[in-house]
Amino acid sequence: MPNKKSRKLFDRLSPFYNRLYKRQHRNYARIFHEMDHCNLSHFSTIIDVGCGSGAMASVFSEMGLKTYAVDHSIGMLRVAKSRRENANVRLCRGSIGSGLPFSDNSFDVVMAAFVAHGMNADQRLLLYKEMKRVGKHLVILHDYNGVRSVAISIAEFAEGGDYFKFIRVVKDELMDFFGNLEVIETDKHSSCYVCNIGCNI
Ligand SMILES: C[S@@+](CC[C@H](N)C(=O)[O-])C[C@H]1O[C@@H](n2cnc3c(N)ncnc32)[C@H](O)[C@@H]1O
Repeated sequence: MPNKKSRKLFDRLSPFYNRLYKRQHRNYARIFHEMDHCNLSHFSTIIDVGCGSGAMASVFSEMGLKTYAVDHSIGMLRVAKSRRENANVRLCRGSIGSGLPFSDNSFDVVMAAFVAHGMNADQRLLLYKEMKRVGKHLVILHDYNGVRSVAISIAEFAEGGDYFKFIRVVKDELMDFFGNLEVIETDKHSSCYVCNIGCNI
C-alpha cells in the first residue's frame, strides 16, 4: 500500500485502536512479558516500528526496557501519547520510506508488529534494511502466520495490503535477507519471526 494511503488509513482507524488498547496490551503482556517468548528481558533497548497506539511498546517499557516507538500516522501517535501506560515510551514520528530517524546500531532489539503484511515486497525489503541498520542483536516481526480465518481474510482484503502473499513468502524472504530465522508461535494466527543480526548476548 502506498505510504500516503497507509498514513491516512491509520489516521482514520486510530479511534478504533484506542478502543482496542486494553485488549491489545493484555495480549502483548502475555506474549512478551509473562511468557517472555523472545527472551526480551535479556536486553536493554528496544524500538517498536509502526507502533500504532503503543500498546506493545508500553509492555516493553513495563518490562524495564528503554523503549522507543515510531509511526508515520499522526492519529495513531496522538492516541499513543494520550495513554498513561506510554508515559515512559519515547514516541516519535517517522516513516520507513524516508529512513528511520535513528543512527546505525541504536537498539538491541528492533520489533515491528503487524506492519509488514500491509506492505508490498519492495516496501518490506526497505523495512528489513532499516530494521537491520538501526538494530544490534535481534530483528523481530510479530505478524500473521499461514493459519487463516474468515474474519482475518475479510479484514485484510478490505485493508488492501499484501496479507495473502505475505503469509506465503515471509519465511523465505526473511531467510534470504537475514540468513537465519526462528519462528515462534504466539497464538493460532500469529507468530514471531526472529532474526539474529549480530553477536548474541
Ligand atoms: C496494523 S497497524 C499495527 C500497529 C501496532 N504495531 C499494533 O500491533 O497494534 C500498522 C501500523 O504501522 C504503521 N505504518 C505502516 N507503514 C508505515 C511506514 N512506512 N512508516 C511508519 N509507520 C508505518 C501504521 O501507521 C500503523 O500504525
